[in-house]
Amino acid sequence: MDTARKLKINCKPLDDLLGGGLEGGIITEFYGEAGSGKTNICIQATRECVLNGIGKVAYVDTESVSMERFIQICKGSYNKILSNTIFFKPSSFLEQEKIILGLPKVKNIGLVVVDTINMFYRIMMEDDEEGANRSLVRQLTSLQLLARKQNLYVIITSQVYTTENGDFRPFAGRGIEHMAKTIVKLERIGEGRRKAVIMKHRSQPEGREAVFYITKNGLE
Ligand code: GTP
Ligand code: MG
Repeated sequence: MDTARKLKINCKPLDDLLGGGLEGGIITEFYGEAGSGKTNICIQATRECVLNGIGKVAYVDTESVSMERFIQICKGSYNKILSNTIFFKPSSFLEQEKIILGLPKVKNIGLVVVDTINMFYRIMMEDDEEGANRSLVRQLTSLQLLARKQNLYVIITSQVYTTENGDFRPFAGRGIEHMAKTIVKLERIGEGRRKAVIMKHRSQPEGREAVFYITKNGLE
């Protein structure tokens, strides 16, 4: 297996930060506040996966991704990209689990996106904490195995909660921290300006930062 396989997001600061792009065979997690750029990254990675002929994209969407934004980022190629993207739209955490556990049967996938992994988790946690945690572990284990066995790219995004000292952490942090081999925190630092920080990586220093911009064409 070629573990050095990389998928460029085609946003130089982010690709450099990641040592050349997303790494194949593992789960990469992006977490950050609302508007920090999680979905923009997912859409742009979808575009790059299809346009570089890596394979189809299985896009598990819990928030109804904006088709308008999809078209802005994919521009003239959006028909090709959309026809190579399989959207899954779960309406509960257990439905999301069923979808994720079914992904190994889908042919020719190059990239799996789960945006976000923890929205329905938070809802399920309210009345079945144990069940939600068990399902989260099953989902992450399945994604990790899929990434490893088929050497796929997997992106999960995570909403955050704010800690007492004003810092923010991914919700369900600990469950995910072990399963995601690369973890990137996203912060808003100005209008359209975002900072990405490596929180965990197997070959890049933790704490390394990059600044990028969200523009009408995507990430630059
Ligand atoms: P949640 O899903 O709410 O948690 O946020 P997210 O992290 O997924 O954020 P997303 O990737 O959707 O980014 C939203 C940000 O992109 C907002 O701050 C928008 O202002 C910005 N954005 C969207 N379209 C454009 C655009 O055409 N130009 C610019 N400059 N910014 C844009
Ligand atoms: Mg989003």
